[in-house]
Parts: sequence; structure tokens; C-alpha cells
Amino acid sequence: MKIGVVGAGGIGGTVGTLWAKAGHEVFFSSRNPEKLTELVTTAGANTQAGSIAEAAAFGDVIFLSVYYWTTDEAIAACGNIDGKILIDATNPYLRTDGNIHRVPGASSGLELAAKLPQVHVVKAYNTLPTATFATEHHRADPYALFYCGDDPEAKATVDRLITDSGFAGVDIGKLDRVIHQEPGGVLYNHPMLVAEAQKHLPSLM
Ligand SMILES: NC(=O)c1ccc[n+]([C@@H]2O[C@H](COP(=O)([O-])OP(=O)(O)OC[C@H]3O[C@@H](n4cnc5c(N)ncnc54)[C@H](OP(=O)(O)O)[C@@H]3O)[C@@H](O)[C@H]2O)c1
Repeated sequence: MKIGVVGAGGIGGTVGTLWAKAGHEVFFSSRNPEKLTELVTTAGANTQAGSIAEAAAFGDVIFLSVYYWTTDEAIAACGNIDGKILIDATNPYLRTDGNIHRVPGASSGLELAAKLPQVHVVKAYNTLPTATFATEHHRADPYALFYCGDDPEAKATVDRLITDSGFAGVDIGKLDRVIHQEPGGVLYNHPMLVAEAQKHLPSLM
């Protein structure tokens, strides 16, 4: 699959590398692509780097992993991505006074879907820390990775990508459930195995 990574920092660089090692074609992007040379060298043959617009045009799937407060700028830089799948890995934090604060009542997944009605938004890869993606992929008993979205085909694609990156996808339903996997939600930032993850699902209905 062709994947454009918008925000090739900690999370984008790590997850994109896992996909590339699994055989996917990954286009990393930056406002300054020249700084991605080392990442492309490490991530290997299936990767390249360029501008945000180039990555967005390349990918059938866009992996959005920028700061919440830069989301609008990043999306604008993508150009037209109608009809594509967008995996939203962002979390609604804001930086004020030099500190990062959770934004009460905000949902980056729902806000993105409202701004991009022709894009298949799937929320995923936001519930675990970068270090967990880097070190705990492909465990014999994999960690659960929650996702939600409104388009079944897009979700099936994301589930396969989660498997290929060495985790186990757990579908929590439509995008209106996203609050459960964003900051403050019961599924956010609690690494768990699939059996434990599935015990939470009935209480989310
Ligand atoms: N850290 C974690 O453990 C973790 C886990 C899950 C999800 N997340 C979420 O993932 C997102 C990224 O976190 P991170 O830890 O990967 O941060 P990071 O390492 O600092 O990377 C941030 C990325 O955002 C890009 N960026 C910054 N300003 C931008 C702008 N105005 N337009 C376009 N791109 C811009 C940067 O690209 P350039 O500067 O190269 O252009 C950089 O690649 C956040 O929303 C975070 O909540 C983080």
C-alpha cells in the first residue's frame, strides 16, 4: 500500500518505518524534507521523503501525526485528498505558557472529519506512546491498538496496516466513539492485550 506520512516526527517516523519494513511504500514529509535523510536511510528501501503535498498526493492512505495546533496548516498543505483514507494519530493538546495542556471537550478525530467530509477518517495509532510502537511491535501476544471510523472499507484497510505494524487492531465502532480513545478516555494511553481490550468494549456502547 502507498502511505503518505504527514508529520514524520516521533510517531510518524516510527510507525512509517514499521510499515516500510512490512513492505509498504512510505513517503515521509516535512516542511523541511532535507532533515529526513537519516530517517529514510534507517527506514530503508521502501521509503522516500519530500514535501507534505507530495506525500499527500502519493498516499492512498495519509497518516496524520502533527501537533493538534498545527492540524489546519498541515491539512491545507496536503491539497485535495478527497476519497483517501486519513489515519488521525493526533491528540488534542495545546501548547500554552511553554506547557502542553489537554483541550477539554475537544476531539481531533471529530473535528477533522467535519473539516474533511469527503475523506475517510479513521482514528488510530494515538493511544500508545511512541516508545511502545518502537519497542513492542510484533510481540507474540500483541498489544491492542484501538481504532474507530465511519467507513467499513477504510477501517478494514487500517486494521490490516495495524497488523502489519505488529499490533492487533480493536475496532471500537463509529467515529462518534472516538472520545473513548482520545485523551481522558478509558482506552487512551493504557497498553493492554487484546483480551483485556475487548472487555472494555461493551461499556462503550
Ligand atoms: N509522542 C507520542 O507518544 C504520541 C503518541 C501517539 C500520538 N501522538 C500524537 O502525534 C502527534 C505528533 O506527536 P510527535 O510526538 O510525533 O511529535 P514530534 O515528534 O514533535 O513531531 C511533530 C511533527 O509535526 C510536524 N509539524 C510541526 N508543525 C507543523 C506544521 N505547522 N505543519 C505541518 N507539520 C508540522 C513536524 O514536521 P516538520 O517540523 O519536519 O515540518 C514533525 O514531524 C501529536 O498530535 C501527538 O499528540 C504522540
